[in-house]
Amino acid sequence: MTIHDIRQKYFDFMESKGHKIIPSSPLVLEGDATTLFTSSGMQPMMPYLLGQKHPLGTRLVDSQKCFRSQDIDEVGDNRHTTFFEMLGNWSLGDYFKKEQLGFFFAFLTDKKLGLGLDPHRLYVSVFAGGSGVEKDDDAVMIWKNLFAKVGIQAKEGQQIFPYPAKKNWWSRAGTPEQMPTGEPGGPDSEVFFDFGVERKLHENSQWKNEPCHINCDCGRYVEIGNNVFMQYVKQADGTLKELPQKNIDFGGGLTRLEAAMRNDPDMFNISSLAPVIKEVEKISAHSYSVEEHRPSMRVIADHLTAASFLIKDGVFPSNKGQGYVLRRLLRRAAIKLYFLTDNRDSIVMLPDIVRVITEFYDDLYFNPGDFPLIQNTITVEISRFSHSLDRGLKELQKNPQVDGKFAFDLYQNYGFPLEVTAEILSQMGKQVDIQQFQKEFEKHKELSRTASAGMFRGGLADHSDVVTAYHTATHLLHAALRQILGTHIQQKGSNITSERLRFDFSHPEKLSEVQIKVVQNLINQKISERLTVTKEELPKEKALTQGALAFFGQKYPDQVTVYTIGDRKNFFSKELCGGPHVESLAELAKINIVKQESLGAGTRRLYLQFV
Ligand code: SER
Repeated sequence: MTIHDIRQKYFDFMESKGHKIIPSSPLVLEGDATTLFTSSGMQPMMPYLLGQKHPLGTRLVDSQKCFRSQDIDEVGDNRHTTFFEMLGNWSLGDYFKKEQLGFFFAFLTDKKLGLGLDPHRLYVSVFAGGSGVEKDDDAVMIWKNLFAKVGIQAKEGQQIFPYPAKKNWWSRAGTPEQMPTGEPGGPDSEVFFDFGVERKLHENSQWKNEPCHINCDCGRYVEIGNNVFMQYVKQADGTLKELPQKNIDFGGGLTRLEAAMRNDPDMFNISSLAPVIKEVEKISAHSYSVEEHRPSMRVIADHLTAASFLIKDGVFPSNKGQGYVLRRLLRRAAIKLYFLTDNRDSIVMLPDIVRVITEFYDDLYFNPGDFPLIQNTITVEISRFSHSLDRGLKELQKNPQVDGKFAFDLYQNYGFPLEVTAEILSQMGKQVDIQQFQKEFEKHKELSRTASAGMFRGGLADHSDVVTAYHTATHLLHAALRQILGTHIQQKGSNITSERLRFDFSHPEKLSEVQIKVVQNLINQKISERLTVTKEELPKEKALTQGALAFFGQKYPDQVTVYTIGDRKNFFSKELCGGPHVESLAELAKINIVKQESLGAGTRRLYLQFV
């Protein structure tokens, strides 16, 4: 079974339980300033978990593309990847714990309708209680009954393990104490697969002299799914209040499920990554079967997969935000290949690897034109980097004293990861002060953590009035550009903070001062006309026939939400969009287009602010 088969099987199973399939949201969420990337299935679902009605009802199922930048440095072992798909099923105030645990257990173990995994290899964790919420005895009972049905007398401490909030509570921010006001969350119950029955993976465990345990990270037990009972919302006084609707947020690791079915804990042997590893073998002329080459090969395979998906979703390499993360991925892959082959010229072959990635996900996530676009983007970035690579190597050679600070600068300025610096140095007979590097690194991590924590807090203003207003301004700008410059204009991406809107679109040349003024005036004229904004739910085909714009390259469900600005028939703007938006342009201030940038390759960027 490939991940495509498993995804389909899960959709079929959930459809038979009354769920409607929704497509994956992009990796960069429009109008969501809370995080740089979509890193869990629940992020795009936030408005619905908080009570907004979903056009397809209360039972939904999806497979969400996820990217976790915080895991970049973990990639190299047999199970960490930055990109993955998270299977999700959602109850929006519909079914709850008993049904959910029953669904997932049946999907895992049923030989016909599910994956037919051996229930003896499944272990679960539940919430042990804390922060004013009791231990989840319901979940314990439900699990006991489910295991009993397959002849296993499950007991606490044997198959079922209670853990405190640090392990068994889910919210975007972490434990109840870490949750900001207004954030939803709840206790969860995780399911683990035991890869160690026949293998001695726990040899690496710090617990090797005792029986290993499910939350040990030695790799014997791997989490394959998380059932979140999303039933609380954090209050300003620090307490937790029951949400008006109790939700289920289930997240399952698609690749990990294939690994469990193959009884092979190496995620890089699964259907989506094995062909990429094969390409890496070809261009490096090394075999994945040689233990010492594996970590580098895994980094290259994962990073190029993630980079392909990011570029597809509108990210360009740059020195900031999402673009910087993409740049780091590509540089890290290039450095790994350079040292794997000991040949600087080999890195120009990196972009070719992308073909097998786009082919594997063909139809589902990529269109035929995507391969050349992704390949070109990577080629440009890699050729740029090959110059810093030379300079970085020279710096290393001429500097007799390589302290941790210097190693860190190399990392920052030339994109040299520490282990690579250490590797080069050892070849030169020098050593790097790892401890000092770590200290610099921690300082840096602390900084970016605070930055992203700030972003997160500010981001919850995500549903605040000003962000909503910018969201509506996005539609106005899109429509105005198409009216003034032509309908070849397509939105390539957008990003909103409480201070401004950033809008990327396809257009072959720089806009003149006059063109910018005309676009700006047109938007301000519509704002002064106080046009109404109407929201309706329509079948997708009907919406498109009416002339509604769809976001390029994104897949939509059959039933969609459409926002119209102006008269229903004689509208100024009509777009497929999840919202939220203002109800009337009377709620908006006048706008200014404050800056224009070129992103190269026929893509331009404008910044818009309310006056
Ligand atoms: N939100 C949970 C997670 O990301 C389950 O979907 O693990």
